[in-house]
Amino acid sequence: MSTVPEIIVVGGGIAGMTYATQLADRAGRRPVRIRILSKAVVQVSNSFQAQGGVAAVMRGDDSFEDHVRDTLVAGAGRNDEAVVRLVVREGPALIRGLIGLGAHFDRGTDGALRLAREGGHSTARVVHHRDRTGEEIVRVLQRRVELMPAIEVLSDQRAIDLIISGEGADRRCIGVRAVDLRTGDVTDRFAHLVVLATGGAGRMYEHTTNPQGASGDGIAMGIRAAALTRDMAFVQFHPTALHTGAHGTVSLVSEAVRGAGARLLGADLRPLMRGVHPMGDLAPRNVVARAIHREMMHAGVPHVWLDAGPIGVERFAQEFPGIALACRAHGLLPGRDLLPVMPAVHYMCGGLRTDDRGRTSIPGLFALGECAGSGVHGADRLASNSLLEALVIPKRAAEITWDEISGTPVLPSRIIRRDRLAKRPVEVVDRAMAALTHTMTKHVGIIRTEHGLQHSLRAINRISRQVQPIWERRRWTTALMDLRDLLVVARAVAEAALNEPESVGAHCWEVEPVS
Ligand code: SIN
Repeated sequence: MSTVPEIIVVGGGIAGMTYATQLADRAGRRPVRIRILSKAVVQVSNSFQAQGGVAAVMRGDDSFEDHVRDTLVAGAGRNDEAVVRLVVREGPALIRGLIGLGAHFDRGTDGALRLAREGGHSTARVVHHRDRTGEEIVRVLQRRVELMPAIEVLSDQRAIDLIISGEGADRRCIGVRAVDLRTGDVTDRFAHLVVLATGGAGRMYEHTTNPQGASGDGIAMGIRAAALTRDMAFVQFHPTALHTGAHGTVSLVSEAVRGAGARLLGADLRPLMRGVHPMGDLAPRNVVARAIHREMMHAGVPHVWLDAGPIGVERFAQEFPGIALACRAHGLLPGRDLLPVMPAVHYMCGGLRTDDRGRTSIPGLFALGECAGSGVHGADRLASNSLLEALVIPKRAAEITWDEISGTPVLPSRIIRRDRLAKRPVEVVDRAMAALTHTMTKHVGIIRTEHGLQHSLRAINRISRQVQPIWERRRWTTALMDLRDLLVVARAVAEAALNEPESVGAHCWEVEPVS
């Protein structure tokens, strides 16, 4: 039994690493053991792939009030304003902290930070490292993690369930059950505190900018343990993913590209956003995504166009090297060629309900980053506010961790099953996954109807009934674990959408035609 405080962080992206490093820093001489369970290398995390940047007030002619207002406007007032205020206020110090640790963000010839403008922002306030901001922050945090003896990273660990003790008011999270993806062993790992930082669930849709790992694991584990959620109806579609005809993960074309001057064109090459919104191409994301969706429906086309001509070939390649590379792989030269773009699922604005320090409704369980519903984003997330949240709330969570740790000694880890994961794909699981992504895309997408949502819930229930016996027979594969979690999150999204009385933010009812 261990009396040294033991913390398990599930997920090794920016939120998880920020929390772990902040906590290890604060521990000083106090002993603490922080284990980060990660199911894949950080290079395939959403954090690493974040192109945009971190929104923060870094210039004298910008103001906290303006950043708060832009966040509340994008979130349609469904945000928790107090949380928005503190995240906006505390953000700049964390960015300065990252710079102090060696993070390089783009600067102009005068040495000042070169800030980008993205959708919904009334001014340029996005701190970035070309189109690889996530990678740069991960680089700095990973180096710190490696240097901190209190932190141990356990790779290839796929958490599947939370371990909860007690009943009623005594319920408490005391650990996680995880599968070792190399050996198939299932281990119960105990801790004084479990922190979920598992990211989103974009894979429940046919097209997503999220990587393979976005399988809703943290949210699903929380829901199975009866943790409260919030804002689950609000699934953010990024307006501009590169259309290549492929399903699954698609390449993002950052909003910063429109911030630098690119323009959306309709199927007939007219400026798509003219007259749609006063902010034009940089209107809040849900407005732009809906305009593109409508154009695709009316014109019967699979994409619209993004004209990066105003940026030019050279500048594009210099400022957006990652996007230029992705385009070149499809024979496109941005700045010369029109880019075919379409909306794709990008971000869960809701998640497990937390307070402004990451505490969920279950004692002993924190949630941070995309899997959390902290109230920062409301009904739609303002661009580049997610990395901001992933820095600020984990720091605040680390500050109060010592008060949240129970005095009860922690049991040693125990292997509860030795097994091998099934190596070959299971056909019925692949078919079930295809059915789930199809129903979510068709019925729980950008425009929703009551009939469609009811239909999707019936489909989700039917697929869950098919999957349950396979799960119980324990023929586990990574795909099955992912599907089991995605089904839980999908149901929560469809149910929350049905309970939204009106169109708001990223949730939009189809207006019935007046007869
Ligand atoms: C983008 O670069 O457009 C994405 C940034 C974000 O989602 O905040």
